Amino acid sequence: MFEDFREKERIGWGSKADFYKDHTALITTQAIPTLLRAVRARAGASLLDICTGPGYAAGAAHAMCASSTGIDFAPEMVAMAARSFPDCRFQVGDALQLDFADDTFDAAVCPFGIFHVTDPQRAVSEGHRVIREGGRYAFSQWCSPAESDFFRIAMRSIAKHSDMSIADPAPDAFLYSDRDLCRKLMVDTGFADIEVHEVPSVYHAPPGDFFENIMRLTVRGAIIVDAQPDEVKLAIQEDMNNAASAYLTNDQIVIPVPSFVVSGVK
Ligand SMILES: C[S@@+](CC[C@H](N)C(=O)[O-])C[C@H]1O[C@@H](n2cnc3c(N)ncnc32)[C@H](O)[C@@H]1O
Repeated sequence: MFEDFREKERIGWGSKADFYKDHTALITTQAIPTLLRAVRARAGASLLDICTGPGYAAGAAHAMCASSTGIDFAPEMVAMAARSFPDCRFQVGDALQLDFADDTFDAAVCPFGIFHVTDPQRAVSEGHRVIREGGRYAFSQWCSPAESDFFRIAMRSIAKHSDMSIADPAPDAFLYSDRDLCRKLMVDTGFADIEVHEVPSVYHAPPGDFFENIMRLTVRGAIIVDAQPDEVKLAIQEDMNNAASAYLTNDQIVIPVPSFVVSGVK
């Protein structure tokens, strides 16, 4: 299901590996301390970082003395992760079909992967399968546009001007922005001792072209915008930049982009 969307995501994230650290990572990495605390990362423990991207969670886990492995379906991301964190192990792999035996790891994290995979339930179930009894699993997820100024600005400007019918069918990325649904998903998968921790993440950038930054930060949004005629792109750009300018303080654009971390024990 959602094969066209999945392939465009894989190619899209691969093409962003080189500049991910200057854009998306500036907000996603803010959840790493909460993720690693949620799975009780500790010396000697083995950790799997699912949808690792350029490997930041795996790298941070290794620095905490846990041995860590990262997987991602975009080979360019895996290559970037291996260059950045040579002490960790990285491999190309699918979050929906993990290439590991049952009960392999002490802990697993999926940082901002549930937002992107085509089958979130399957991804959580795979995370559950590969950790040992008593191990913890955690994923981070963006809050919905109703709670997030950042996503409200980005989504509203795109939806207002674009022909959204060009977007490939895809799951609702914000479905699991509902904490109650996340708890249910975790319990239904077999996890106990569910915890939810809020992360007050913030987008922080020098004043400039907010729209251009969004195009570099996202895959799904950029695919829709790129397919629009030039005059529509310009209208989206103007709208987004106007909205973002209201967040200029002390020569910086600062926009809340809250997220949260859900975790449980197997
Ligand atoms: C927003 S990035 C998050 C990267 C990193 N975890 C972080 O927090 O910065 C989403 C990542 O999920 C990967 N991804 C999406 N679907 C996947 C799947 N089914 N299997 C493996 N990786 C997947 C993408 O290639 C991309 O690197």
